[in-house]
Amino acid sequence: MTSDCAMDIELRNIHKRFGPVHANNDINVRFSHGRIVGILGENGAGKSTLMKILSGFQPADEGEILIDNDIIDYTGPAAAIANGIGMLQQDPLDVGAFSVLENFIYGGAEGITMKRARAESKLMELSARFGFELDPHQLIDNLLIAERQQLEIIRLLALGVETLILDEPTTGISADQKDILFNALRRLAHDEGLVVLLVSHKLEDVIDLCDEVVVLRNGLMIGEMNMPASDANLTSAVIARTKQRLVTMMFGEILEAQQRPHFEIGAPVLSANDLVVHDQRLEMQPITMSAHTGEVIGLAGLGGSGQELFMRACARLQRIESGALDFDGISSLNTNYRGLFRRGCVFAAAGRLEEGLITGLTLTEHTALVSDDRLQIDWNAVEKLTASRIERYRVKGRSGDTIEQLSGGNQQRVLIGLLPDDPKLLILEQPTRGLDVGSARWIWTQLLERCQRGAAIIFNSSDLEELVTFSDRIFVFYAGRIHEVPDVRQTTIDELGHLIGGEFLAPIPQPPPAISMAGIPQGGKGSHGG
Ligand SMILES: Nc1ncnc2c1ncn2[C@@H]1O[C@H](COP(=O)(O)OP(=O)(O)O)[C@@H](O)[C@H]1O
Ligand SMILES: [Mg+2]
Repeated sequence: MTSDCAMDIELRNIHKRFGPVHANNDINVRFSHGRIVGILGENGAGKSTLMKILSGFQPADEGEILIDNDIIDYTGPAAAIANGIGMLQQDPLDVGAFSVLENFIYGGAEGITMKRARAESKLMELSARFGFELDPHQLIDNLLIAERQQLEIIRLLALGVETLILDEPTTGISADQKDILFNALRRLAHDEGLVVLLVSHKLEDVIDLCDEVVVLRNGLMIGEMNMPASDANLTSAVIARTKQRLVTMMFGEILEAQQRPHFEIGAPVLSANDLVVHDQRLEMQPITMSAHTGEVIGLAGLGGSGQELFMRACARLQRIESGALDFDGISSLNTNYRGLFRRGCVFAAAGRLEEGLITGLTLTEHTALVSDDRLQIDWNAVEKLTASRIERYRVKGRSGDTIEQLSGGNQQRVLIGLLPDDPKLLILEQPTRGLDVGSARWIWTQLLERCQRGAAIIFNSSDLEELVTFSDRIFVFYAGRIHEVPDVRQTTIDELGHLIGGEFLAPIPQPPPAISMAGIPQGGKGSHGG
């Protein structure tokens, strides 16, 4: 190892797919010598995949790796190490039955030809240099995770790596050991000029250690950010701001809305009592639930589990078999959607173009269509109103454009723009389906404003995060049955995922076990039915 490494690395257009998962989607990034770079992202973001590609543990599907501006082609970790790139795996690849020294020797470039005495002094020198306290005669099996990491770092350094990659190295080590590790990494990068890449999903670690951070999400590189210099007096405000920005990059902007305001819940706007919705295929069970002013009710379930039928029944767009359904204190059984709409119940369908908006009509004509007085349209006024909505809802389009000329996100904005300002009840099918994060967030801002003014919202979504984020209460549908999630704010996306698979159902009574010849019951697998 030289004391003045000066290797620069570049990854260009890296792609890696595992079946349908696009684990690395066109990653372009440069790593400079002397810098500690954090590779940050939540579980599954694609961090390990990218680092395994760089360190030769797996090939990329597409893309190039450049070292000091030259495209380098290598396969396998040994070839990567020969090119100066070494990676510390989450589970170190050492051999348990050997001693620290033997491991160092066998894992070294000279293999078993290296003299024990020379190897031992080299090991001890490197160990001391980085504040490690490795006992060369200890068996690997007796080492702590932190000590195995130290041995692996030293082994890679002895092999001459100038880029050192560590994958989640702080998992399972103590705070003191972490300090030792981080000090060693600072020294390697800042004094000796190595590239140090730290894979982590822990904000504290990257803020503490890294000079810059690269954030991955869903296989995409979301952005890069320089960390505040750690020698400057880091105020807690600076740290908080840095964290907030990193969290936004890791999880997307929607997460900020997680602290969405909750409004005062008022009187029921909609109540269903033993409501049985008619359907040819699905046997709908009686539904009892109510939605109140200021309340957001999320409906979860796999497509076709009954939630869509229920929403349409509430809007009187689906036949009702039996039971009671009241809107704003009056039974809806003998009315239709038009009647409900006039009294403040608005239904917005998921298929924007199929049901909500009309192909061929311009934005202005859409405005006219929902205006109160349709016998005498004041086109000037309608035109003005349309222009102001385009402005207010930041629609990318003009009043004379037909609806199909707009992008999906802009169509959805138009649809939201056509909603009355003060509805009593909004029934929304998949209000943000297929939209980018920014548009989805904007739409929720609009919806919540109406909720704050007293509207009740019932929506369904296949996005569990959206359900957990925005709902006051969640009802799960499964095979025509309904189940209320007890405490939404304590519910995780995982738990909700289980529920939509039907886990809330009581086990269907099993037929009595068949008795075999030997008299031992032949147990069938426990089933949750459905
Ligand atoms: N060998 C593999 N086979 C199939 N899928 C994989 C494999 N390795 C990773 N993946 C998938 O690729 C995605 C990214 O994984 P990974 O790079 O391990 O993420 P991270 O390290 O950021 O947690 C995940 O969806 C993961 O399930
Ligand atoms: Mg990983």
